[in-house]
Amino acid sequence: MTLAAETVPVQVKGVTKRFRQGDASVEALKNLSLTVGRGDFVAVMGASGSGKSTLLHVIAGLTPPDQGEVRVDGENLTDMPDRRLTLFRRQRVGLVFQAFNLIPALTAEDNILLPLLAGGESRSQTEPLLDTLLRRLNLADRRKHKPDALSGGEQQRVAVARALITNPALILADEPTGSLDSVSGQKLCRLLRELCEEQKRTIMLVTHEPAVAVWAKRIVVLKDGRILTEFATADFRDAHALAAHYQDVVGVPAGAEARP
Ligand SMILES: Nc1ncnc2c1ncn2[C@@H]1O[C@H](COP(=O)(O)OP(=O)(O)OP(=O)(O)O)[C@@H](O)[C@H]1O
Ligand SMILES: [Mg+2]
Repeated sequence: MTLAAETVPVQVKGVTKRFRQGDASVEALKNLSLTVGRGDFVAVMGASGSGKSTLLHVIAGLTPPDQGEVRVDGENLTDMPDRRLTLFRRQRVGLVFQAFNLIPALTAEDNILLPLLAGGESRSQTEPLLDTLLRRLNLADRRKHKPDALSGGEQQRVAVARALITNPALILADEPTGSLDSVSGQKLCRLLRELCEEQKRTIMLVTHEPAVAVWAKRIVVLKDGRILTEFATADFRDAHALAAHYQDVVGVPAGAEARP
């Protein structure tokens, strides 16, 4: 293994993932390979069931692949013991998934701070970053509320802040704008873009929305567990042009895919 390979944030090599569904077996990922460089911002698109969430889960080390290899920052997740994998994820990866998994008994700010408490950091060290995230995600006046007193969009923003509080080098987000109104969604996209441009963080984001994907640097389109195509967002004038191209490659209107 070369030194250069060790510094690549994400390397997926020939990954296949099968799930059992009753007597049948579904191949969610089929011999998929993908490299994401430092400071890259990749939007993963594709029809429902194309393998987007599975790909993110495999890169997060939450789902072991059946074949192939996944390296994050040069470390091979496929042969990492569970305890190390948990620690690795907690310290290096920021995860925002479709289910927010907030703890009902904790306030918004305590939910956000949770990943840090596990690492034993003091409150005073983390206060400035907490304040910044609460402000940037428009949660400042909701910080003392518990999840059941927050709207779906607010809960989603709390989950995003929780993913960013550890300053992770790699951010994996599965439809993080799914329950946000378009203004909040665009604000979150701007924040992610800034994290990648100013702080060289690496971001992979799953989305169905061209208006979200357009904030990324490149778009990878999945179909039936494989990469169908990829393209740079800079080649498109705006989200409409991008949506038109996406529609051409997948053959259905963006965001209107039928469930298989
Ligand atoms: N835990 C599981 N058990 C069985 N099958 C699964 C499981 N997770 C995913 N699958 C199957 O793997 C395929 C890919 O699923 P995945 O969740 O990755 O799709 P997706 O692209 O994220 O779809 P969506 O846009 O609907 O979120 C689908 O056929 C799905 O039914
Ligand atoms: Mg999904």
